[in-house]
Amino acid sequence: MAGEPILKVSHLKKSFGGVLAVYDVNFELNPGEFLGIIGPNGSGKTTLVNLITGFVKPDEGEVLFRGKNITGKMPYKIAGLGISRTFQMVRLFYNLPAYKNLIIPLCSSRFKKMRGGKYGERDDVAIDLLDDMGFERDSQVPYKVAGSLPHGYLKRLDLSRALALRPEVLILDELFSGMSMSEVASTLPLIEKFNEEGLTIIMIEHRLKELFRVVDRVMVLNYGIPIASGSPDEVMESEEVKKAYLGIHIDLD
Ligand SMILES: Nc1ncnc2c1ncn2[C@@H]1O[C@H](COP(=O)(O)OP(=O)(O)OP(=O)(O)O)[C@@H](O)[C@H]1O
Ligand SMILES: [Mg+2]
Repeated sequence: MAGEPILKVSHLKKSFGGVLAVYDVNFELNPGEFLGIIGPNGSGKTTLVNLITGFVKPDEGEVLFRGKNITGKMPYKIAGLGISRTFQMVRLFYNLPAYKNLIIPLCSSRFKKMRGGKYGERDDVAIDLLDDMGFERDSQVPYKVAGSLPHGYLKRLDLSRALALRPEVLILDELFSGMSMSEVASTLPLIEKFNEEGLTIIMIEHRLKELFRVVDRVMVLNYGIPIASGSPDEVMESEEVKKAYLGIHIDLD
């Protein structure tokens, strides 16, 4: 249906014991939109990602993907529908060669349905994808054991794993943490390119300067509650946001 949001989050709530991690979060995302989510440490950003992607079940509220209720479904089902994510703390097969970490999404029925072709080609697909992400094929980097690679490579490997699923919505949870400046500088244009090609993206990031360069819109969480939403300039002008970030250095130069 024309004009239907690709993702709709309504009244989402989650508490852990006495801690209200996410409290009444509502937002809609149109196909192809690029949303940034920011907020101080512990403001509920990762919990929100976990609620959308099925890793944590909400106490209340619902998540609709293309109008279909996906609330509380298993993570692999949600991924299979086309929502993939990266992890703030990467989870990889450290004992396998880097390219073999892409094997699960490349063996999924989603990938098979979308790309066709033979399963035997999947190693080539993995290596092509990693090469695009800066894993120099000529230097054998995709073949190295994942656990031997520097942290910035592991973050890009996690991103490649998420992309291998050919998602419609990609959620990035602090992708840039632990990356060098040059890794950030080379990864950011790739993410922009995916968005220009139609991928809907939610990006959670503490590196605001980089985030603000690419997003259409920003939502700010504080203690699990959205306190502002709008363009980067609009949200940074908000008194509530300034208060939430009081004493925290924000580098926007
Ligand atoms: N599994 C859990 N069990 C108990 N408390 C949790 C759990 N997950 C998150 N919390 C709590 O919920 C709140 C929100 O945490 P969350 O990780 O979502 O914040 P965040 O915004 O992603 O923080 P950061 O910027 O540090 O990544 C915090 O108070 C955290 O301690
Ligand atoms: Mg987090």
